[in-house]
Amino acid sequence: MAGIAPDTKFYVDAQDAERFVESVLVGNGVPAAHASVVARCLVAADLRGVDTHGMNRIPSYMERIRQGVLDAKATPELKQVTPVVAQVDAKNAFGFLAADIGMAAAIESAKLYGIGMTSILHSNHFGMSAWVVQKALDADMMSLVFTNSSPALPPWGGKSMLLGVSPLACGAPGKDNPFILDMAPSIAARGKIYKAKRRGEKIPSDWALDKDGNATDDPAAALDGGVMLPMGGPKGSGLAVMMDVFSGVLSGSAFAGNVTGPYDPSKPSNVGHFLVAIKPDLFMSLDDFRERMQYLYDRVVGADKAAGVDRIYFPGELEQLQQQEREKTGIPLVQAEIDALNAEANKVGAKPLVIKNPS
Ligand SMILES: NC(=O)c1ccc[n+]([C@@H]2O[C@H](COP(=O)([O-])OP(=O)(O)OC[C@H]3O[C@@H](n4cnc5c(N)ncnc54)[C@H](O)[C@@H]3O)[C@@H](O)[C@H]2O)c1
Repeated sequence: MAGIAPDTKFYVDAQDAERFVESVLVGNGVPAAHASVVARCLVAADLRGVDTHGMNRIPSYMERIRQGVLDAKATPELKQVTPVVAQVDAKNAFGFLAADIGMAAAIESAKLYGIGMTSILHSNHFGMSAWVVQKALDADMMSLVFTNSSPALPPWGGKSMLLGVSPLACGAPGKDNPFILDMAPSIAARGKIYKAKRRGEKIPSDWALDKDGNATDDPAAALDGGVMLPMGGPKGSGLAVMMDVFSGVLSGSAFAGNVTGPYDPSKPSNVGHFLVAIKPDLFMSLDDFRERMQYLYDRVVGADKAAGVDRIYFPGELEQLQQQEREKTGIPLVQAEIDALNAEANKVGAKPLVIKNPS
């Protein structure tokens, strides 16, 4: 491997990636059925090109298990509060498990009553929100998927981290192209800064400030006491507050800067989530709804293009195209990422990652 550039990509098949992640999780005490849910959600992110929230999260998640701040064996508990409202106490299990059963309950309510809502407390990071939206889409449901997260953004006008870079996600079924909007309220998700640091890359200088409040293109300086910048000034900061109101204040979980981040293994995260499923065929048939979504899609991607623009995309479409590509090529990883993942496998006697193009 000597002489290979640090950004050289090696490819892993999604199925091999899932098996690998599952085996590392099981090796760390996660029950097999739970490990398969977590692995599927993480690899779904890698397939969609959201590498910041895929299997590279394994080392930090495993560190949390080893430190006893994430309960590998816990099973989230679901309580139906009204016919359309459920509550999940995640019991400090993986956020993936809590959101998985939370969205399943919301979908069941929506099938019967048109809408279902689940509030989740005592949870952990659930990675890329789009997998929860996709779960609703697989049941022909529209959805809202909110979560809060650890401090990363100052409130507008502030200079210290308080609000989370908490993604707002929503979706609706279409004909060929579902609508999936999944966006952090910062200019960029903080995971993109961790990824740049892992890969030895610079970041655009409008993403973050360093600890002295200066713009920086150095990911390490941004992460070392620096802050993320909200998108759209007070509007991005307002969306971060919104995620905290719906996910944190309402659920009874931590909020207002008190969620612990996934890279901090010192204490439980106590993340809150808020999930809603909505039946799209309440006022018309599902076919009519899909036709109307297709009309919207055609209008959006067929809009007049600004100078220098080749193609207009629908929200979620770039990731959908990326997924089609990666299902063929595999998931790209750099050597440092492979080494970090294999080190985790080694700790629990699991097999190393299967690379498609070993050199
Ligand atoms: N769980 C957490 O605490 C947490 C925190 C932050 C981010 N995240 C995840 O990080 C991921 C990345 O977030 P992000 O804000 O950096 O995403 P992003 O900026 O890459 O994309 C945001 C949205 O914009 C759409 N989009 C992007 N470029 C487009 C274009 N040219 N035309 C049309 N639509 C376009 C995407 O489809 C997506 O829906 C998300 O999956 C999010 O859930 C999770």
